Amino acid sequence: MRFDIADASLAEDGALRIEWAARRMPVLEAIRRRFSADRPLEGIRVGACLHVTAETANLMRALRAGGAEVTLCASNPLSTQDDVAAALVEEGIPVHAVRGENAERYYRHIRAVLDLEPQVTMDDGADLVTTLLKERTGGDPLGSTEETTTGVLRLRAMADAGVLRFPVVAVNDSATKHLFDNRHGTGQSALDGIMRAANLLYAGRTVVVIGFGDCGVGVAARARGLGAAVVVVEVDPVRALAAAMEGYRVLPGIEAARLGDVFVTVTGNIHVLRAEHFAVMKDGALLANAGHFDVEIDLAALEAAARGRRRIRPNLEEWQLGDGRRLYLAAQGRLVNLAAAEGHPADVMDMSFADQALAAEWLVANAGKLEPRVYRLPDYLDAEVARLKLESLGGGLDTLTPEQERYLRSWELGT
Ligand code: NAI
Repeated sequence: MRFDIADASLAEDGALRIEWAARRMPVLEAIRRRFSADRPLEGIRVGACLHVTAETANLMRALRAGGAEVTLCASNPLSTQDDVAAALVEEGIPVHAVRGENAERYYRHIRAVLDLEPQVTMDDGADLVTTLLKERTGGDPLGSTEETTTGVLRLRAMADAGVLRFPVVAVNDSATKHLFDNRHGTGQSALDGIMRAANLLYAGRTVVVIGFGDCGVGVAARARGLGAAVVVVEVDPVRALAAAMEGYRVLPGIEAARLGDVFVTVTGNIHVLRAEHFAVMKDGALLANAGHFDVEIDLAALEAAARGRRRIRPNLEEWQLGDGRRLYLAAQGRLVNLAAAEGHPADVMDMSFADQALAAEWLVANAGKLEPRVYRLPDYLDAEVARLKLESLGGGLDTLTPEQERYLRSWELGT
């Protein structure tokens, strides 16, 4: 078995971490049990490029229970939990991921997964599929899945450009993914990452949330819950209005830049914090990114404005600007929740990875029948994941009476 990890001796710690996450992933566990019985992925090679965390480890176990041969590499060089990687290797699952790996090793790991010619690929940000389409002419999978908003955008761009060669399921677009993972997961864990990086108190501070999409809604709500005054920066009028009606102050970026104590970027866009913003920020302002790629904060512009920098805490750098102000950058501008904390809690990854497992099953069941484009998972699967999760939380659904069903289907009935 070929693999590349940091330290095999960490396996015991990793196994405990995986076990703890498993306890809070009941939906994935139900799928794992069904997969063990039905074996829907018998003999299928699955190549996954996901954050190498305890939650992902449980997804790998579920896929393997379904009969798949899985191989895993990282979807971000800073998010790998080395102990989890070691535990997976000990279980016989090849992992190619080392926390802090450089770009050359990161792509070497992606290529190692592609060398196995996976029949199903799984991406978080579309690096695996992008590398495959750019560098290989054959060895296409029967289908792929995509975890995050940014990856789905890239894949839609590939489909529009006519270069996508196989079907992809946009797991992110399932309601049980983006309404919970992006919102509640990112909301809590991005603030957790900043807390761990800086040990700051949010109460009484101004937190500027840039991007009020699924993730931004969660970050803003949690920051307000911790006592912060929240300012939202948006370019979409409807989303900006939604933020205003939630009671947040909505301002153009340059005005918000003057007010913020903490900035969180969650746009999926490039350089949303740049030279003009750094020029007016307060001394001591903290910058963090929770969007997929480390492009949201213009680091080259920050470097150009700075006369020095030093690491002041793990995951926190102080940048000294020419005029004496200091700005603090969390986790090198990479996903702060994964780099400075542990990513989303297992409770919410339970649903995202249930969707991933079902997407793999759906792709295999429909092999040969799908076109090379971006698909959503059928709604009944969303409903099933939500129902199982609700049950696990101790909630129960009400049901429509026959009279209500008739009423909802009719058009003749008025008052
Ligand atoms: P979304 O598309 O729902 O929201 C993005 C928002 O940013 C939109 O409302 C858009 O109008 C706004 N925006 C775009 N450019 C802007 C600009 N220049 N200034 C202000 N606002 C701007 O996307 P979602 O799902 O909230 O994801 C955002 C990013 O976070 C993506 O890169 C996604 O992949 C990533 N993500 C990160 C997670 C994490 O664990 N940290 C989890 C899930 C998603």
